[in-house]
Amino acid sequence: MTAPLEGKVAFITGAARGQGRSHAVRLAQDGADVIAVDICGPIDSVAYPMATPEDLKQTKAQVEALGRRIVGIEADVRDAAAMRAAVAEGVSELGPIDIVLANAGIGMMSDDAGEEEAFRDQLEVNLFGVWNTVQAAAPGMIERGRGGAVVLTGSTLGLVGRGGNGRGGSDGYCASKHAVVGLGRTWAHWLAPYDIRVNSVHPAGANTPMVMNDAVAALFADAPASSGADVGNLLNVGLIEAEDVSNAIAWLVSDQARYVTGVALPVDAGFTAR
Ligand SMILES: NC(=O)c1ccc[n+]([C@@H]2O[C@H](COP(=O)([O-])OP(=O)(O)OC[C@H]3O[C@@H](n4cnc5c(N)ncnc54)[C@H](O)[C@@H]3O)[C@@H](O)[C@H]2O)c1
Repeated sequence: MTAPLEGKVAFITGAARGQGRSHAVRLAQDGADVIAVDICGPIDSVAYPMATPEDLKQTKAQVEALGRRIVGIEADVRDAAAMRAAVAEGVSELGPIDIVLANAGIGMMSDDAGEEEAFRDQLEVNLFGVWNTVQAAAPGMIERGRGGAVVLTGSTLGLVGRGGNGRGGSDGYCASKHAVVGLGRTWAHWLAPYDIRVNSVHPAGANTPMVMNDAVAALFADAPASSGADVGNLLNVGLIEAEDVSNAIAWLVSDQARYVTGVALPVDAGFTAR
């Protein structure tokens, strides 16, 4: 049987670790080649370390072990020109893009960051970064005329009122993730005439380095009730796994979901139903 994504090329941001790596591996299992982008370096205002070049190499090794091709590119989603260059480099190596996963994002901000800096950086990465990613990839997909699928990564905190607390980082996270819903819906309109589907996924708290780090552990230890990271899911699970999100994305980008567009899909163990 042919793999569902055989011959497809996926452009994935934040692919060095966490959910992005999991998506890269899952789509490679389904037959796709991967253009894997990650900043692989620090952002001053963020309270925990970003991925490293070694992390990106690890993603590369895991995809190659599946017999698929991958180009790893260190680039910042905040930099529109760098994203266009990443698309050009990836396409020249692997061929035209069929799938875009705008997954890169940041979470908890450092106490050392100013409130405005924290708010701005959240929007720069989690919103402008998504915009830059799709703006870089979509023109080539439109011109090629072969359709495609785009998935934006939001959060449950982009669907409900929980999560903000008047601080720049938390408010910026919630605002940027709500804005991702809007981009997904409006881009579904923009790209439908070209048979390019656009959806967003909204994970509950997930077991990745964004959450599993010293800064978040200290926050929970200090102020569990006001952390803004209430992981009260309906189902009996604290943190979902990256693979749970990858499974939803693998379906969304496949022909099985060929008439699914403009949807904001929670992958949240019931968090948003509470
Ligand atoms: N982990 C959670 O609990 C959770 C819950 C809901 C939504 N999300 C979202 O899922 C997405 C993936 O996060 P994750 O859980 O895998 O966390 P993660 O920190 O493990 O992975 C995020 C990746 O994005 C990269 N990145 C960050 N800023 C970047 C930039 N400016 N340019 C390029 N790459 C950049 C990081 O280096 C890292 O490799 C994010 O958008 C996040 O907001 C996470």
